[in-house]
Amino acid sequence: MVASVHPLATRAGLDVLKSGGNAIDAAVAVGLTLGVVDADNSGIGGGCFMLIRLANGKFVAIDGREMAPAAATRDMFVRDGKADGELSQTGALASGVPGEVAAFDYAIKKFGRKKLADLLLPAAALAEKGFEISHSYAARLESVSEDMAKFESSRAVFFHDGKPLPNGFRFKQPDLAATYRGIAGQGSDWFYRGPFAQAAGKWMKANGGTMTAADFANYHIALREPVTTTYRGHKVVSMSPPSSGGVHVVQMLNILEKFDLKSLDEATRLHVIAESMKLAFADRAHWLGDPDFAKVPRGLVSKKYAAALAKRIDLKHSTDVASHGQPPAWNTDVFKHHTTHFSVADAEGNWVACTATVNTSFGSKVVIPGTGVVLNNQMDDFSAQPGVPNAFKLIGAEANAVAPGKRPLSSMSPTIVLKNGKPIIAVGASGGPKIISAVLMELIGLLDLGLTPEQAVAAPRIHQQWSPDELMVEDSLPGNLRAALEKRGHVVKVLPSMATSQIVARDAKGKAFVGAADPRADGVAEGW
Ligand code: DON
Repeated sequence: MVASVHPLATRAGLDVLKSGGNAIDAAVAVGLTLGVVDADNSGIGGGCFMLIRLANGKFVAIDGREMAPAAATRDMFVRDGKADGELSQTGALASGVPGEVAAFDYAIKKFGRKKLADLLLPAAALAEKGFEISHSYAARLESVSEDMAKFESSRAVFFHDGKPLPNGFRFKQPDLAATYRGIAGQGSDWFYRGPFAQAAGKWMKANGGTMTAADFANYHIALREPVTTTYRGHKVVSMSPPSSGGVHVVQMLNILEKFDLKSLDEATRLHVIAESMKLAFADRAHWLGDPDFAKVPRGLVSKKYAAALAKRIDLKHSTDVASHGQPPAWNTDVFKHHTTHFSVADAEGNWVACTATVNTSFGSKVVIPGTGVVLNNQMDDFSAQPGVPNAFKLIGAEANAVAPGKRPLSSMSPTIVLKNGKPIIAVGASGGPKIISAVLMELIGLLDLGLTPEQAVAAPRIHQQWSPDELMVEDSLPGNLRAALEKRGHVVKVLPSMATSQIVARDAKGKAFVGAADPRADGVAEGW
């Protein structure tokens, strides 16, 4: 079973399963194909987190997050005393060294049955043959066209007759095809130590960037120890720092386990969930960062700490959360080791939850000339200055300050749930911080409320990230619930939609696979 945001990517994954590949092979095929057909969300110019549950029961958490270049500095985005979001979001300074190729390469070499080239070549063929630009792709491209037009090499790929590619246009990417073939022929060194690294270094030097070919050579994936908890008889396994996603999904589940969510009326249930989000995001803003640089307290995911936070939740009123909490053992026991989401599972028992991203739409908007590769703008996920919000209005502290070789904090939350030792759910989402809320609410839908994956994905979402102190709700949330939340003191802000999520799961009997692609996007979940 494969669930992704694009039918062609889902098909690429199924083709791999049908030809004898396992879930790890199929996931990599999906990711590489998304880089061709969904470049605004993810691609080899970006990074990913890949949570794998192997058929032998072992978990592997691959951190393919971007790394800041060696010349990055704490205040590199500060001009005249103020952080400049334009610099961390667009152009030469916005990118970290991409990690997706290294993560996929590692996953395939260690756990795949195919060769990376077997997965790159069909995606290269698709890039060459082209695909039809959809209405939503054209709209996403149009929305960033002003920034993209600043870069000649990006115009050359994404513009036609001086305009962004329109709906229905057959989009062929010969340069990207050549890049995929280069990696297929010479391995990931082609990207990190060869022609791609050199082309990127050259462009950066000419355009005021700091990233060099040497930064590419120094890139490495990290293996992390996943965060885990138990939730109402299930085991939940998720991504650890430098993602904040798993930590806070686990922290909120620990808090929410103290409430009988199923028996609460819906407004009270949503209120309690929103309060848990507020408490968790207050901690995120203070404590979270790359664990190789900052002491991220393991106590954040302890049941004892969650119990203390749960006591602060008043069922009738929204609580004032002035600042972060004090998780236990914060300076002794730390997390050290260790956007698009797709989920894949195979009949042997291999499960993959992978979230990949170039950060905001089309990343830095920069295509490295001649390569077809869109570079990420993941540097914006650092806290450019304490208390100054990034593109997702997230604030951060010292733990997430920029430093050379450091990985920016993420919200990506690839998560796998087990029951009686057997995997039953692989879930994750895109949507910046709303990823964390979406994954949480889906787990509650699946584990507390008995929803099917399709129902859990489609259900109206809410999101509270502490700062700004407002409760975002999707406009599909019925008006009476909105009013009930306002009555409890929440400042409710209505948004058309939040986050995009894909789930693969076992059905209620634990036999067949079921899958769901988010109705908010154009994806497909399909089995074979
Ligand atoms: O890693 C993160 O948390 C962000 N860079 C994810 C960006 C994202 O989900 C964009 N989607 N709307």
